[in-house]
Amino acid sequence: MKIPFIDLKAQYELHKDEINKEVLGVLESTQFILGPQVSKLENSLTNFTSSKHAIACSSGTDALLLALMAFDIKAGDEVITTPFTFIATAEAISLVGATAVFVDINEKTYNIDPNLLEEKITPKTRAIIPVSLYGQPSDMDEINLIAKKYGITVIEDGCQSFGASYKGKKSCNLSDIGCTSFFPSKPLGCYGDGGAVFTNDDILAKKLRTLANHGQEERYKHKYIGINGRLDAIQAAILNVKIKYFKNEVTKREKIGARYNELLKDSGVIPPFIHNNRTSVFAQYSIRHKNRDDLASKLNQAGIPTAVHYPISLHQQEAFANLGYKTGDFPVSEKVSSEIMSLPMSPYLTKEQQNLIIENIRNFS
Ligand SMILES: Cc1ncc(COP(=O)(O)O)c(C=O)c1O
Repeated sequence: MKIPFIDLKAQYELHKDEINKEVLGVLESTQFILGPQVSKLENSLTNFTSSKHAIACSSGTDALLLALMAFDIKAGDEVITTPFTFIATAEAISLVGATAVFVDINEKTYNIDPNLLEEKITPKTRAIIPVSLYGQPSDMDEINLIAKKYGITVIEDGCQSFGASYKGKKSCNLSDIGCTSFFPSKPLGCYGDGGAVFTNDDILAKKLRTLANHGQEERYKHKYIGINGRLDAIQAAILNVKIKYFKNEVTKREKIGARYNELLKDSGVIPPFIHNNRTSVFAQYSIRHKNRDDLASKLNQAGIPTAVHYPISLHQQEAFANLGYKTGDFPVSEKVSSEIMSLPMSPYLTKEQQNLIIENIRNFS
């Protein structure tokens, strides 16, 4: 049995006729950038998250960049985030010229530890970017409260958590701004790059939309230095089909995650911990084991693909050498990055495939 890590093919096969028809419609219309497909998607995104505004954009990275630009965050400013995330989170901070300040993670959730936040806040701190890693929102109430106390902004990096909820509210609508990614392998993915920014603030929404279109409010009248951050209509058309089935896919992901958790709980690995006041969309289903590399190679031999998200903490990356951190600065992040590994996860992972994965893990000790 060959198990795919993420089964994009099964999903495409299921909705192929509808997707092909919508993509062909865009080709016929020749409206390739923004336009009615993008507006329709933004409508669905606001309905889904109950956020007042959704601004579709070119990627999750650009969503983060736009959020930072909308708050005029720049050189001399500091932005707090986690060292245990995909590089794009901190990359966006560096791209606007600000300084990324890392705060270690909680060992159970792998999300930023709110108890360590205040000691890193300085007069230069402008924002906090908590990442809802693997699909589970961070401790947003605690983080929002601290941010309010110091008058700083909270930008949720929800690039892995679109579809998850926190105390009944949807991820990406849990703070001043939420950002997500529609990269193909994300829970809601398109067939190229795409993303979105969410806010309930009218002024901010207008600025975000303008920034994503070269700072242009009217044709060839540029209010700000912006970026080419627009979403193309083909990607929006694909998402407009996929979003109809998304709730159902999220339920399937939750069920598979819960089944994995139940059957792996005394197997020698550490399954993900999900708070009972929030849900995860399991963008990744990630477990920990002291002999992670041996376990991974045993699974790979049995035809089970695995991946490591993420093997090196950001403070140990060459790209961030200028920040002056050293090994040992974020012990939890370093420990988790040496033990973590992700298992196959998709709404279309069959029980038979799940059983084979679980059996191989249980036999490893
Ligand atoms: C946590 C996180 N932040 C940001 C991004 C960047 O998103 P994108 O690949 O759409 O630019 C990703 C996705 O890869 C991510 O996982």
